[in-house]
Amino acid sequence: MMFDPLTSRYLKLLQKGTLEELTPECLYALVYSSFDYEILKKKTKGTYKTFSITSTLLGLSSTPLSNSQITSRTIKDALVSSLFDTYGSRPDVEKKEPEVPFFVKIQGREVEVYVSLISKTSNHMLRSYRGPITHAGALRPTTASLLSYKSGVSKLAQAVRKGEVDGMKIVDPMCGSGTLLFESFYLVTGCSPYRIWLEEGGIPVWSRLGYGDLEECRKEVEKREEEGMAFLEQGKVTFVGNDKVGGNLKMVRESCEVLGLRGRHFNTHCNGVSEFTFDAGDGVAISLCNPPWPEGRIGGDDPDLEGTWEALGEWSKRNLKGQEMWVLAPPTELSGVLRMKAKRAMKFRQGKDELRWSQYLINK
Ligand SMILES: C[S@@+](CC[C@H](N)C(=O)[O-])C[C@H]1O[C@@H](n2cnc3c(N)ncnc32)[C@H](O)[C@@H]1O
Repeated sequence: MMFDPLTSRYLKLLQKGTLEELTPECLYALVYSSFDYEILKKKTKGTYKTFSITSTLLGLSSTPLSNSQITSRTIKDALVSSLFDTYGSRPDVEKKEPEVPFFVKIQGREVEVYVSLISKTSNHMLRSYRGPITHAGALRPTTASLLSYKSGVSKLAQAVRKGEVDGMKIVDPMCGSGTLLFESFYLVTGCSPYRIWLEEGGIPVWSRLGYGDLEECRKEVEKREEEGMAFLEQGKVTFVGNDKVGGNLKMVRESCEVLGLRGRHFNTHCNGVSEFTFDAGDGVAISLCNPPWPEGRIGGDDPDLEGTWEALGEWSKRNLKGQEMWVLAPPTELSGVLRMKAKRAMKFRQGKDELRWSQYLINK
C-alpha cells in the first residue's frame, strides 16, 4: 500500500515490469503480454468492470514516452486488446466513475501498475475541505499540492519535525479560497483529505475491492491523522491567509472548520496586500501566491492588475526580509512588475496556459 501525498490517493501495487526500450511499442508489448488484470473480471463470465488509466511519468522527458496522454492510451489499448484476444470481450473505459481506477507509474524503464483504493470516483481532485461554492479563480487542488511540494514545504516541515528549524509559517497574501494553504497543510501533516468521507460511512469502491483493503486504509488514515495533528499541536507550524475579499476568507474559515483547524494554526486576515502586515517570527517563512491574472483567464477581472502585482512585490520586500516567496504567473510581462529577479522558475502547462512557478529570495 502506498500513500501518494500529491494526489492524496491510497494505491495498491498490482504488477511490476521492466521495459526493454522507452518506446510506446515496448510499453504496449509489456502490458499486452505480462500483466494480469484479474481485478477487472466480474462474476459473470466474459464481463468486466469499467476502468480508467492515469499515468505518472518520471524521468522520461525527451523520450517517446514523455506524453502522459499518449502513454495512458497505449496502456489502455494494450489492456483492452489483451483481454479481447484472450477472452473474446472488451472492458469499457469510464473516466468519471470507473469501478477500477488504475494508476501507472513509469520511472525510467520500470513500470508499476497500481489500483486506487480510495475515492467514490477516481477523481483525485475532490478534496473534503472544499465547500459547495468555490472561488472562481481557484487552483486545481492537485496543481496547488504540486506547487507547494516543489517549493519545498514538505522538506521544511521535516526540518521542523527534526528540530533543525525552530518553526515555520506558510503565508499566502492573496489566498482566495486558500487552496495553496490547505494543500500545504496536507503535505505538512500527512493527513488524508478523505478522513471526513470515512466518517460519513466509508467509500463504496473500497468494499468492491475487498474488506481487507478498506480496513488497512482506514487504519492508515487514522494513524496519519493522529500523528499529523499532534505535530501541528506543537504549534511550530502556522498557516496565514490574507485576501482583500471577505467572502473568500469566509470560504477559508469554513474549510478550516471542516479540517478541525483552530486559530492558532490557521490565521486569516482581510486586507489589501499593501495594508497586510506579516511577522515571520523566529523561524522560517515561505510565501506561496497565486495573484490575479490578466482578463480572459480564470479570475482575470482586476482593473489595476499591474498595480496589484507591484503591491505584491512591495509587500514581500517589507514583510519577508531574508525569506522566500513563490509566485504563479502566466507567461506575460506581469512578473516584471514585481521588480525582483527570480532565483529559478519552473514551467508547466495547465489546459491552454503555460505557467511559471517562480522563486524569489527576498533581501534581508
Ligand atoms: C487567482 S485568485 C487566488 C485563488 C486561490 N489560489 C484559490 O485557489 O482559491 C487571486 C486572489 O487575489 C485576491 N486579490 C486581488 N487583489 C488583491 C489585493 N490587492 N490584495 C489582496 N488580495 C487581492 C483576489 O481577491 C483573489 O482571491
